[in-house]
Parts: sequence; structure tokens; C-alpha cells
Amino acid sequence: MGDQLCRWRILFRRSVCARASCSPYGTRSNSPLHPGLTPWANPFRPFRGLHLDRIARNIWGLLVAANLLANLVPCGFAQTGAALDRQAWLRYALLDANAARAYEYLPANYVLLGRSIVLQNAQQELASGFEKIIGRKLNSGDNVKGSAIFLGTLHDLHSIVSSLRPPISLEEDGYWITWARMHDSECLVVAATNDRGVLYGVFALLSKIARGERIAGINEAQNPYAPIRWVNQWDNLDGRIERGYGGSSIFFEDGKVRSDLTRAGEYARLLASIGINGCTINNVNAAPGVLEPGFLVQVKRIADVFRPWGVKLSIAVDLSSPKVVGGLETFDPLDPRVGDWWRKKADAIYEQVPDFGGFVVKADSEGRSGPSAYGRTHADAANVIAQALKPHGGVVFYRAFVYNHHLDWRDLKNDRAKAAYDNFHPLDGKFDDNAIIQIKNGPIDFQVREPVSPLFAGLRNTNEAIELQITQEYTGQQKHLCFLVPMWKEVLDFDMRVEGQPSRVKDLVSGRIFHRPIGGFAGVANVGMDANWLGSPMAMANLYGFGRLAWNPDLSSETIVDEWTRLTFGSDPVVVKTVADLQLRSWHVYENYTGPLGAGTLTNITGNHYDPGPESSEGNGWGQWHRADHQGIGMDRTVATGTGYIGQYPPEVQKMYESLTACPDSLLLFFHHVPYTYVLHSGKTVIQHVYDSHYEGAEEAQSFVTEWKRVEGRVDGERYHDILSRFEFQAGEAIKWCDAICKWINQLSGIPDEKARIAP
Ligand code: GCU
Repeated sequence: MGDQLCRWRILFRRSVCARASCSPYGTRSNSPLHPGLTPWANPFRPFRGLHLDRIARNIWGLLVAANLLANLVPCGFAQTGAALDRQAWLRYALLDANAARAYEYLPANYVLLGRSIVLQNAQQELASGFEKIIGRKLNSGDNVKGSAIFLGTLHDLHSIVSSLRPPISLEEDGYWITWARMHDSECLVVAATNDRGVLYGVFALLSKIARGERIAGINEAQNPYAPIRWVNQWDNLDGRIERGYGGSSIFFEDGKVRSDLTRAGEYARLLASIGINGCTINNVNAAPGVLEPGFLVQVKRIADVFRPWGVKLSIAVDLSSPKVVGGLETFDPLDPRVGDWWRKKADAIYEQVPDFGGFVVKADSEGRSGPSAYGRTHADAANVIAQALKPHGGVVFYRAFVYNHHLDWRDLKNDRAKAAYDNFHPLDGKFDDNAIIQIKNGPIDFQVREPVSPLFAGLRNTNEAIELQITQEYTGQQKHLCFLVPMWKEVLDFDMRVEGQPSRVKDLVSGRIFHRPIGGFAGVANVGMDANWLGSPMAMANLYGFGRLAWNPDLSSETIVDEWTRLTFGSDPVVVKTVADLQLRSWHVYENYTGPLGAGTLTNITGNHYDPGPESSEGNGWGQWHRADHQGIGMDRTVATGTGYIGQYPPEVQKMYESLTACPDSLLLFFHHVPYTYVLHSGKTVIQHVYDSHYEGAEEAQSFVTEWKRVEGRVDGERYHDILSRFEFQAGEAIKWCDAICKWINQLSGIPDEKARIAP
């Protein structure tokens, strides 16, 4: 291990290190580098005047281009990496002749029952999928008797065969794929209660064929787990994306909606294929200008490209809009003029976009305006907007990400983790029925490991949605492989034991436990104009996985990664196995070298949220404290001696976290402050665990390179080399993390590594 790390260290320092801030995978964060940035985080800092970073970026760009050119024509792969990246999991690769023959029995005609834009689109998708995957042209069967594929709502199908009954009662957006006798012929039927459901059925059918699944005898009906399955994009109107790592906005440039919205349409197609039915197009730190009349006309164009895919458009709005855009002297939610303004605004939007989804609101958080300016509550603020949307069927997502970022860090009772519950639990039952509280999965902010937010169990008479982060803000920014589905699964499966009864987070947010009318899932995606959408082809598994979990959180991580790999890279068993293994290990590997034992991330939290920077957490009001000192580490959040945060959970969960012995090691430092010599359930001391996990994580990150090499020649050369260089880069970065954190904690604690790996 030591030798290997050494070899990588040399390699890393010689070539890769420079890429940390200047590679195409380098810092694209919009946040300025923190002045106190540690030297390892920005190797070019001393030479800033010479623009070495720009020069290096150009050289690196040339090297990558040369590398890619050299590998452009791999063994028999028809398309290049960029084209494949852009198609993501919808590449519909042609099956080999043998596999395609297995689908010869499928009808050659289709019958479309209805003419809506979504249905027509579903039919076109089916036809293009058939042609690409099995090389078969589908013809219109409207005037043909005989076997056909019927696409339509149950209602319309019943006018042909009234006895058709799906095996389960279909809900909105659910679909049914079955064989049935229609006009005396055996036909394949894709049915749903609404047009969007038919589209989803078509995508499900194509996915099965693309992965070689049997269609003969199929009789499968599925309903989505929850009605809300949305993505949020944090796009600014100038084209930059907050916490976006895949290029500039697909919606906006220079303060306007892009003239060419091709990518927006392609994005909507990708979203529809995984059951996502809504997209918020702009940053939660919303520019009020988005509500200007002139801008709304432009937004309509985006809604027009979403519509064929059944994706509802929504926008994030600033609470001060009635004042800033509307010219009122107030934005007090209880002032009748303000209510009137929101009503008229909603009416105007629905005139342009009749299927508009609603608004997302971030208020009283990180400097945003909010109801506190007038001594009003979050319920007052959410309801004034909800009431404006209600007549049109729209919803407002009001974010629970509300906290004071000027907390006094010297006060050991202060705790940012308590903020969401403290702010929203007392308001339970006071929100209108079309308001949804959007709650981040953990109480801090998308760290590599957090417990679930206690607020999920704290709202019984209020709709809620879970907010997950697809863009890897704190988990390697798409430069590191970190497949988040296993983490999300842990969150969604976590049992809150409300009143001692099973109450898993997925059942709370979907509204099943407390019988709420609406609820579900929101994912912060932040795709951009890069051909590969998220800045890395492998990261697209997270977008795919989010959609699949929002549709069915009972799916396993293994199933999701298997589906994604087959659709993205094909079904070569070596590729399927290798990619699954890499993806499924990646979260723990990343956690190991960046933030073990629930200490949160030890990244530079006041700067780029990417490089190691454990000192940046302390001594400021942001509240991402790990409280490491010379004796010990961790936040005491117990009821007995700490901040009392644990008291926000239902009693059984409290009991588990409050007790040092029952608290799982993986979250120990989130809940307890312990000496470095504290012995974990594993038998190791905390300090030795920190050392070991960093070295193990760094070593595993190197093994990704070797492992990926197994697929050489089995995936197209361009993507092979692109991903290989990403793994090489990650291997170097993992060493950087390992060195930085081990050295920091070694100096702080004064306790040597048992294996003597840390240089003085
Ligand atoms: C994080 C992120 C911000 C974002 C915020 C939010 O703090 O760093 O960029 O605005 O979350 O979710 O509102």
C-alpha cells in the first residue's frame, strides 16, 4: 500500500496536481476562492500575475484533445464519445442480430388513440426507438386490421375493448404494458390514465428492449411512488449555474432565454424517460427579473419545449418581487396589495403557460429576503403565493433551508442543524394544501454523510418533499466518482419510528404516512451545455438514479446501476460488472478520504466546497462545525450535554443517537464530541480510524484506474480514455486529501499513526 501510494504521489505531483485548478475538470464553481485557501488547493496562487493557470489550462486542453484524437476510432463503435455522452442512457444502441431476432414477433404497426402533443411524441419515440434498437420500421396501423401496438389512455382503449382491466388501479402518470386481443388480433398495449403515463410506458418498453428483457407475455403495471418528481436547476439568467459543473445554462445566456433551446428539449426528454414531471429552471437564489413581463414571454418558449415530454415548468421566485418588480412599497405577505400582486402575476403566467407547475421559494436564508422583514411567518409567506396559484392548480415549494449563517461559534449550544425543525415544526398545519415544504435530506447541507432531517417526522399536517442534490457540490463536483444512490437509499429507507410505528422517510415525503394530498422528491440537478450534461459521463448515473428512485424508491442501487450501465454502455458482462462495482463502491471511497465518522465534509466550506480545508469550518458563523481541538473531535448534539438537536427526533431515534454505545460509528462525530482515543465499535480508536480510512480511501481511489482498464476495447475509445483520465485525476486528488487531512489531524491531536505513514 505504502509503495503504491508513493508511486501515485510522484505521478500526481508531476502531472496531475496542476490540473486541480486548471484542468477541464478543474474548479468551475462560481464561488470565489476563499482568501485563506490552503496552498495545496491552489498551486498557482503565488504566480497569479503570470496567468500560469490559463497557460496550463490551454496546454492541458491540447493534451486532452490530442489524447482523444489518438483514440477516436476505436474497435467498431459507430459514434464518438460526445455524441454518446449527449444521448446519455437514451442512446438506443442497435442490438446484435441474435438479440434483435428475439423481438421479431413484436407488431410492425402502431395505433395511436388520441392526438395530444404528448401522445404523438410517445408514438414518435416508440418508432425511433424501434428503428434504432432492433432496426425495425413501425408503420401507422390506424387503418390496418391485425396485430399492432396500441398507445392510449385506458378511457380510449375501453371504447375498443371495454373489458380491459390493469392488474392494479392506475394512478396519474402510472402505466400498463400488456398483451390483449384488440380487433381479434393479439396486440401489445401501452395504456395509462393520462397521456404522460402513456409516454412513460413507451420509455419503459424501450428500456426493456434495449436491455434485452422479455416482452413476450408481459403484463406489467406501475404507479409512481409520489406525485412530485421534480428537478431544480440553479441556473442564473446570465448563463452561469450555481454549483453547476457541466458548463453553462441550457436555458439562459446574457440575461435572456437562449435562442436555441435544442438542449432544453433534449433534457426534457431525458427527464421524461425516468418519470420526472417537473423542472424549476432558475436558481433558488432567484433574480427578481424572472417575473418581469418581458421575461415571462421568453420563459414560455422553454415551457413549449418541455410540453411534449410532459415536464411542467416552474420558476424560483424572490419574496421581495412585489416590491422589486411590482413597484409596491412592501412585500409584506399579509398586505392585501401584495396578495393581489401575486394573484395577478400568477394569472399572467398561466395565460402564457397554461400547464405552469408553480414556484419555488428560498426565503430568510443566506441573505435572501423573507417574511421576517415584516414579522410574518413562513406560513404567511408560502400561503400568499399558494393562494395565487391555487385557482390554476399550481403549487409552491417553500424551502426549509432556513438558518442563521451568523451564529456565534463560541457558544457550544448553538447549532445550525436545529434550524429547519425550529423554524417549521411550530408552523405545522398552517400551510395551505398546495404548499409543499421542500426539505434537504440532512439538517446541514448535502454533506457526504448526515443523519436524516428530523423535520421529515416533524410535519404531520403539512405537505413535504425531500430535496436531494444530484450535482455533487460537496461530493467531488463530478471530478470524483461518487454514486449517490446508495446514500439516498439509506436516507429514504430510514425509519423515523413516529409514535413507535414504521415511518420510513420515503413514506413520509410521499404523503403516505400522514395521508397528505401531495408530496415527493426534488433533485437539484444543474446539468449544463457540456455534451455530457453534468461534466462527467459517469455522474449521469446520479441523475438517472434520482429519477428511478423518485418513481420507485424500493428499487435497489444494484438494479439502478445495472439498468443505467446497460443503457449507457451496452450489455457486455465485463463492462456491466466493472461499472457496477465502481459506482457502488464510490460513495464510501469518497467518504473515506474526505469525511469519515460523520464529521461532515472536511472541505473548504467557505470557498470552493471541493478542496481539503478542515480549518475553514471553524471560527465562523456558517455552523458547519466539527469542533476538532487538541483533545477531541465532533459536535455534541446530545440532549444531556450538547445542543439538544437529538431531541428533535422521535423517541426511538433519539435513544439511538443519544447513547454513545448505540450511535452508529458512521455518524458518531455528527452527534458526539469524543476524545481522539475513544474506541469505536470496530475496536479502533477514532484517530486511527481517521488515518486508516483516509489511506484506504486513497488506495481504493487508485484501484478505480486499474479496474476501469478492464473495459478497454469494450466501450468506445473516446469515453474510455475520457473516463480513464478522470480516474487518474481522482487518484491524485485522493492522495491530496489523504495527506492534507492526516497531517492536519496528526498535528492537532499530537497522536502518531500506528502505521507511521504520516510525514512530519
Ligand atoms: C448551499 C449552496 C448554495 C445554495 C444553497 C441552497 O449552501 O452552497 O449555493 O444556494 O445551498 O440550497 O439554497
